[in-house]
Amino acid sequence: MRPTLIRGARRRRPFLRGLLAAGAALVLSAGVAGIAVNQANAATGCRVTYTITNQWDTGFGATLSITNLGDPLTSWTLTWDFANAGQRVSQGWNGTFTQASGSQRVTVTNASYNGSVGTNAQVSSPPGFNGTYSGANPVPTSFSLNGTACTGSTTTTPPTTPPTTPTTTPPTTTPPAGTHVDNPFVGGRGYVNPEWAANARADGGAAIANQPTAVWLDRIAAINGVNGGMGLRDHLDEALDQGASYIQIVIYNLPGRDCSALASNGELGPTEIGRYQTEYIDPIAAIMGDASYRDLRIVAIVEIDSLPNLVTNTNGRATQTDTCNTMLQNGNYVRGVQYALNKLHAIPNVYNYVDAGHHGWLGWDDNFGASADLFASTIRGTTAGLASVDGFITNTANYSALQEPFITVTEQTRQSRWIDFNRYVDELSFAQAFRQRLITQNGFSQNIGMLIDTSRNGWGGPNRPTQASTSTDINTFINESRVDRRPHLGDWCNQSGAGIGERPRANPATGIDAYVWVKPPGESDGASQPIDNDEGKGFDQMCDPNYGGNVRNGNSPTGALPNAPLSGHWFPAQFRQLVANAFPPL
Ligand code: GLC
Repeated sequence: MRPTLIRGARRRRPFLRGLLAAGAALVLSAGVAGIAVNQANAATGCRVTYTITNQWDTGFGATLSITNLGDPLTSWTLTWDFANAGQRVSQGWNGTFTQASGSQRVTVTNASYNGSVGTNAQVSSPPGFNGTYSGANPVPTSFSLNGTACTGSTTTTPPTTPPTTPTTTPPTTTPPAGTHVDNPFVGGRGYVNPEWAANARADGGAAIANQPTAVWLDRIAAINGVNGGMGLRDHLDEALDQGASYIQIVIYNLPGRDCSALASNGELGPTEIGRYQTEYIDPIAAIMGDASYRDLRIVAIVEIDSLPNLVTNTNGRATQTDTCNTMLQNGNYVRGVQYALNKLHAIPNVYNYVDAGHHGWLGWDDNFGASADLFASTIRGTTAGLASVDGFITNTANYSALQEPFITVTEQTRQSRWIDFNRYVDELSFAQAFRQRLITQNGFSQNIGMLIDTSRNGWGGPNRPTQASTSTDINTFINESRVDRRPHLGDWCNQSGAGIGERPRANPATGIDAYVWVKPPGESDGASQPIDNDEGKGFDQMCDPNYGGNVRNGNSPTGALPNAPLSGHWFPAQFRQLVANAFPPL
């Protein structure tokens, strides 16, 4: 099922990057696209392509590709008028954006590092912005650069020589090292893992096979690629080939990994922190730090489940495990996370997002604050302190609904068995509140953003409620109203009835940097019966559909699908169900 990619056969095709990037999104060209003329004595002229990279009901993101057709520039000012009074720039990058209140005129001046533009060159580090709109969001029809209208040709000295080849050469300049934007998901598109995409296409998922999913480095061998598959360098090279602006990499190999479950136990024993550092993090950092990748934003998802397990599954709690107690006492989760953050944050184009569980885990009062405090103390212990992270991710590889449209958390609904005194009933409210807590009480910057893994939390299909229940019994009301159809919130393995969730996109809601697909849909959470393997994977009964549960899931059914392969292995039946139950529908 897994495609084999022969490494020697894969070539870098950097000259295609610009073209491929332009082909991806909705590209609307203002001015004259097409042939530009090489000439020695050009005066002023420009061409601008305004690309809406993503758009939702009230907001959008856009980038501007600016080509200077005239004499070399050392600074520039770009202006345009929005057609619609409701169109507003809210946040820009790679340039200073201004739009006076009540005005439709936008002015952008160059940043310190992208003011110089040669003849027939494009502005390096193209400017872009997030905006809002109401009603329609038309593309502006005319632009001016340093006061000259961008018509796609020069205004003086018409060419006397016949046109030569079209300018398909992308910019050769690179942003200065250290350019680190606030939200790496804005202004481009994500890397599509061809190995995952081939599986998705083969099992009825052509409609989503072009979506970005994360690459999991789940063991040392994955850095170079296992079983002839792609390694980290292959993925980064392929990301350049695709013209991707960002790639998502999961760092997941701590000593004593997955201490409260068995399905994703890893290769390193509880004391093997030295191997984690030298055989895992160091080689990853060496590859990511290669200057050829400096233009690619590398999003690092750091160590799923680790720190939350130290809070909730230790210290005599009913859910404690020996391994979690060991990892708390020996400090190797904290030490490992700090080491990873230090090495990765030192690379300017790497963005660290630390795992923050999900609402059905950390949403209770006793877990919420304690987790935020542990995250803060751990991250404060890094060289750059709290600045070594760009944000946090919730719901990684979990199934918690993004929003429960028919349920409000009140003192009454909190008493239901499903909510069970949690403060939250869905991921969006949890992620936003957790971010606020980190900022207001733990000292994190306002710039931190949250990610939510929406790969499998859609809960569409025939069993999705379409309205609130009318029952007056609180448990019946909640059970008939909730879109999350799991038997219990503590169920996490290959959930029957789940669907693909929101498609990945940047800035979907306040405080949320992006919805992402970190768990590649269709990859198993764990085997439904014991399977011998050399990946360090154990058998967890939570993946057995016939197991009656334990204290972690209120002794409920597991909700797991039968006939599941090892965690991380392709599970066609699960993938087909996820596609069928997608919400929003595909
Ligand atoms: C699980 C597996 C890991 C896999 C990942 C993504 O955590 O343990 O091997 O890479 O899921 O599917």
